[in-house]
Amino acid sequence: MPTRVLIVGAGAVGAFYGSRLACAPNVLVSALCRSNYKAVKSKGFQITSPQYQEYEFKPEHTFQSPEEVRKAAIGWDYLLVATKALPDLGDDSSLLEGLVGDKTAIVLVQNGLGVEEPYQRRFPNSSILSAVTIVSAAQPSHGVISHNRWTRISIGPFLPHLDSGGTGSKTSDNIATELNKHLVDLLQQGGISDAEAYDHAGLQFVRWHKIAINAAMNPSSTLSGGSTNQAMSNDPELSRHLLGVMNEVLDAAPKVLGQPLPKHLATADRILRSTQKNASGSKPSMAIDWEQGRRMELEVILGNPIRIAREKGLEMPRLQSLYALLRMAQENREKEGKSKI
Ligand SMILES: NC(=O)c1ccc[n+]([C@@H]2O[C@H](COP(=O)([O-])OP(=O)(O)OC[C@H]3O[C@@H](n4cnc5c(N)ncnc54)[C@H](OP(=O)(O)O)[C@@H]3O)[C@@H](O)[C@H]2O)c1
Repeated sequence: MPTRVLIVGAGAVGAFYGSRLACAPNVLVSALCRSNYKAVKSKGFQITSPQYQEYEFKPEHTFQSPEEVRKAAIGWDYLLVATKALPDLGDDSSLLEGLVGDKTAIVLVQNGLGVEEPYQRRFPNSSILSAVTIVSAAQPSHGVISHNRWTRISIGPFLPHLDSGGTGSKTSDNIATELNKHLVDLLQQGGISDAEAYDHAGLQFVRWHKIAINAAMNPSSTLSGGSTNQAMSNDPELSRHLLGVMNEVLDAAPKVLGQPLPKHLATADRILRSTQKNASGSKPSMAIDWEQGRRMELEVILGNPIRIAREKGLEMPRLQSLYALLRMAQENREKEGKSKI
């Protein structure tokens, strides 16, 4: 039996990883699209990449609505969710209603903290795999995916009962761990050699570590008028601010997670030094979303980390200022009717 994967949110990240999974033996990948439906249905995805060159990815099925997916009545092994995480706009876990079978794993490839909760609430007995990627990819026009740099994706089963010393069900923990390993194997077979399997705690540290980068770069670029990561990290004042934000998050993470920060994760100084040398001219997605009048991933990148830390009695004042300012800017713009949301 082939492994069947449905990409939910087939934009830059979803289509890129979907296209790699489709290269693994005996894997059939389908896509649930939205605005790019017509283009993908007629021509599939055209992907360009410095690593994999130019290739085409034609999904087995291209769907235009969750209703259409439900009617197809396919038993999915993996539902790979790669929508932008915007819990303030709606609950994307509802897209999966009627698609999750006994053996289906829900895979969340999204930035931010707390992205798993809505899925766990709706599907409490299903395997949820949490994924963090550092890929740089974009969809400049419908169905055209440009993979720019990096491929690393870190994936771990989401087993939050382990955080509080709870036991949960050993069988379902083992199933989630096996499904996690299998997905990482498939990604590696599809050419993503740096796909990595983590356990629950390890993956949550990777999420916090990515938040250190995202919470520093994304809002700062937006508030400084769309500066590139490199320009910000070479500016004497902004670089101090970036270090301050990253250290704030990296100091909070071990206190929230109750374990020391794993040694393999880069320090804030190291991240800053490597960003100073990154001449790609890349700009964080939040700044691009702001420029295009779209909702920003403020809640999962800033709001949730602040709230999760606060529950443990910790304040992150630099993040809090960035969050308060940007949330109000977004609210004001929407009131003026200048947003596409
Ligand atoms: N791009 C990167 O380099 C990168 C790197 C690391 C992490 N990430 C994270 O990965 C996640 C995905 O980012 P992305 O850059 O791939 O975003 P994206 O290009 O905007 O892709 C999201 C896709 O989801 C679709 N979508 C949203 N709601 C949908 C719905 N209800 N039904 C069907 N499709 C729906 C969007 O359709 P529409 O076009 O119609 O809105 C879009 O095609 C985010 O959390 C982001 O922060 C991105």
